[in-house]
Amino acid sequence: MKFLITAGPTREAIDPVRYLSNRSSGRMGYALAGAAKHDGHEVLLISGPTSLDVPPDVDFIQVESAQQMYDAVQDMIKGVDVSILCAAVADYRPVAVAQQKIKKDGESAARMTLELERTPDILGSMRDVFGFEGKLVGFAAETNSVIGFARAKLLRKKCDFIVANDVSRSDIGFDSRENEVMLVYPEHVVKLEKESKERIAMQIVQHVTILKQ
Ligand code: PMT
Repeated sequence: MKFLITAGPTREAIDPVRYLSNRSSGRMGYALAGAAKHDGHEVLLISGPTSLDVPPDVDFIQVESAQQMYDAVQDMIKGVDVSILCAAVADYRPVAVAQQKIKKDGESAARMTLELERTPDILGSMRDVFGFEGKLVGFAAETNSVIGFARAKLLRKKCDFIVANDVSRSDIGFDSRENEVMLVYPEHVVKLEKESKERIAMQIVQHVTILKQ
């Protein structure tokens, strides 16, 4: 099968040297790409900025912003059988990007206000805008009511299952080497116990491959 996987954070420019972003290291998404490749699938990894090596024989597109990730997914979605959207896409971006570095001296130095707008929703566009009919897996990073919020996302975004992370814990999730997740399906939940992201990724890929279409 042909897999498309998103990974890493996005960066939303404020000016030529500053940006809004988050703590995603990319490890979970890169581990998924490696696991799918290891199982003999064709894999395209679309990633925001990370310091990781791309797994061998995985096709790769580097992006920076949420808009670039959205455009890359839309461009590449044709012929894809499985999409796993693991990237921690920034939810907001500055309405205006300053063309020059914003100075911190002068009258308005003590405080500044940034006006933000929503970034495009890649997962939410997969079915209705991109017309994707393959297997669709989203992630959810939650700090409370993890399963409830994940199930609401599953239905809203028309996914086959959601991989839910409890990001209130510092030993799993963002920027750690291990993860512990719940696979939230419409009718049931499967818990994957705490393990390396590589082993969690192998189990997620197995769950995807046995999904009925
Ligand atoms: O990169 P690591 O350090 O290994 O950490 C892994 C992780 C914690 C980042 C990963 O496991 C994870 O949970 N990724 C999703 C993080 C996130 O942004 O969650 P969310 O609940 O805000 O988003 C829900 C889903 O919508 C995700 O599939 C996300 O890719 C997608 N999304 C979000 C916003 C947006 N504008 N477009 C999207 O497609």
